[in-house]
Amino acid sequence: MTIPDPTPTAKPAILVTRAVFPEVLAHLAQHFEVESNQADQSWDAAELARRLQGKVGVFTTGADAISAALLAQCPSLKICANMAVGYNNFDLPAMTAAGVLATNAPDVLTETTADFGFALLMATARRVTESEHYLRAGLWTRWSYDMFSGAEVHGSTLGIIGMGRIGQGIARRGALGFGMKVIYHNRSRLDATLEAECRATYVGKEELLKTADHVVLVVPYSAASHHTIGAPELALMKPTATLVNIARGGIVDDAALAVALREKRIAAAGLDVFEGEPKVHPDLLTVTNVVLTPHIASATVGTRRAMADLAANNLIGYLVHGKALTPLNTLG
Ligand code: 8YV
Repeated sequence: MTIPDPTPTAKPAILVTRAVFPEVLAHLAQHFEVESNQADQSWDAAELARRLQGKVGVFTTGADAISAALLAQCPSLKICANMAVGYNNFDLPAMTAAGVLATNAPDVLTETTADFGFALLMATARRVTESEHYLRAGLWTRWSYDMFSGAEVHGSTLGIIGMGRIGQGIARRGALGFGMKVIYHNRSRLDATLEAECRATYVGKEELLKTADHVVLVVPYSAASHHTIGAPELALMKPTATLVNIARGGIVDDAALAVALREKRIAAAGLDVFEGEPKVHPDLLTVTNVVLTPHIASATVGTRRAMADLAANNLIGYLVHGKALTPLNTLG
């Protein structure tokens, strides 16, 4: 009599949509059959849907749209784990309706992203990249009293729109590190203890735009926050003021901003995110008083690894142990 080989228990199948740390893939492979995209190819929605067939989980980045149409094509899917704190790429109500858990990667990037927000503010106010381009072009032949004079950072007024964890980190850096007066606007006011800790004063949006020397945007993207800053808001700002966007493309009307920068209606801007990125509005590429970076606010080796680990641990937590670490929705 032959004894049949015991059938090995098949591991659940998951998809990782983009190239990621090999150590994170190895960790996932302990629990799952992993299809990954280490070649970092671009997949359109049809390709993503095709590759999701039979998968119970997906490790996504902020550029992977999880829509109702995609979910309808992927009935085996149980969880989407975003390697990003922002989750405007997720149709959350559709995910909940389809019984698909959504998770993001909060907290682990807060301080790193706040550091970058401040770096961009400094570079913008002090004209760091503009002056570097001048030097590299061989145009620096002698010193002059007003060469690349910028705006003061220390002691100036910092206006933060969006006072979540990253906004609070920027407030602390401004108040405690640079002696700035910090004002903020947010959907809801922080409690008094947190306000005192951040040395931040709540004001209306209009007052903030009119009085801040440096405006930093850290609001999540939604239909309601689309074009939070457009031509009318730019018109309220001081001609000496700077604007920094580390939130999401679409929070700023990039075309209107390019006009305001060209006409010197505000002094300068620093942008890490763009409407329709990785495309950048062509007018922003030709104005000189803007610092442009390719969505790198969370890009330190340690933080990107922590974000990837958290996304992986959300997949393992939910699919292996029944509980995700940072869920965004509650399933019935
Ligand atoms: C990510 C981000 O790099 O976390 C976010 O919301 O915008 C960035 O930190 C990007 O979304 C990749 O997933």
